[in-house]
Amino acid sequence: MYKNSSFKVGIIGWRGMVGQVLLERFNATNGLINQAIFLFSSQTIDATSISLNAKTVSFERSDDIIALGQCDILISCQGSAYTQHMLPVLRQQGWHGYWLDAASHLRLDSKTLLVLDPINQVSIESALMNNQKTFVGPNCCTSLLLLALQGLYDKDIIQHVDTHTYQAISGAGSTQLKNYLTQIHAASTDINLDNIIQTCNQLEKNNHSLLNNVIPWVDVLSDHGATKEELKFAKEATKIHGKETPISATCVRVNALRCHSQSITLTLNKNHPLDDIKHWLSHGNTWIKLIDDDAPELLSPKPISNTLDIAVGRIRQDSYRPNVIHLFTIGDQLLWGAAEPLVRTCQMILTHLNQALGTKTDQVDCVK
Ligand code: HSE
Repeated sequence: MYKNSSFKVGIIGWRGMVGQVLLERFNATNGLINQAIFLFSSQTIDATSISLNAKTVSFERSDDIIALGQCDILISCQGSAYTQHMLPVLRQQGWHGYWLDAASHLRLDSKTLLVLDPINQVSIESALMNNQKTFVGPNCCTSLLLLALQGLYDKDIIQHVDTHTYQAISGAGSTQLKNYLTQIHAASTDINLDNIIQTCNQLEKNNHSLLNNVIPWVDVLSDHGATKEELKFAKEATKIHGKETPISATCVRVNALRCHSQSITLTLNKNHPLDDIKHWLSHGNTWIKLIDDDAPELLSPKPISNTLDIAVGRIRQDSYRPNVIHLFTIGDQLLWGAAEPLVRTCQMILTHLNQALGTKTDQVDCVK
């Protein structure tokens, strides 16, 4: 049996939405209780408001290369531009620690692993054994879709996936979320309920971006009229599964706050009994909640928000094509969609480091 050692874990961009959820999860699971925590942000802040289950907590600036370089593990929730600039600088200066990233910049880089351990735990463990140091969380919708369909992917019966998303405003970032909440507040002070049609007309005309709106543009246009967000599904799923995984998508921003929903159409290799499909879906992983048609209130963001549940419901055979299945799924985009895969991978890294220490007399050579 090995003894747990203390490592230095830095969390960059901890004051943003993903960073806050990440800290909540580490606290709830006592994930960093033996570790020294370094909280990096772009501004100097008052440290007194934070309580974390950790050995020690220090506050640093996210441009402090020396403080960053002292960490064994860095988790970045600071965005792609930061990663693009800072990681090469750190590596050039000889930093050999583990970099865990929520941003998209390195997702398709051949030297990084996309981490979603309910699906690719074996690949993560083998990457750690091979001294790989850079791990990246998938895009939120990719993670949520792959978890929802895990039971059917495991059976290898899916030929093609078509998904239409209903993505929460939090996915667009905290500035957009604040704009939206401000718009709600402004609109609610000016509502004439005696003339509801006039009020609707007025609100929809006044609508600037998010309030009372549906926006079928998430991220910028890319190839063949698809947006970058839509193309992420197949590219990232193929990398995680290690084999071609065709997924077509239309991504839409709606007025939900934390949960991303998806309406999915699956083309299967042949006609399978619907009961088998439901059974396989429900056994995909421990977070799947199959929702019966007689409990419609459970298939909505309200019961799923701020939980790790992956709700799957409205499961039905297509009326015209028996090998085609429709379903609807909902997951929290800040948890399984962003923070949770990183929290769990950090835990795997710490276990790996402790095991390595247990089998060596010297300090493990994979840190600093
Ligand atoms: N790309 C996602 C969105 C954010 O725009 O909703 C992922 O958390």
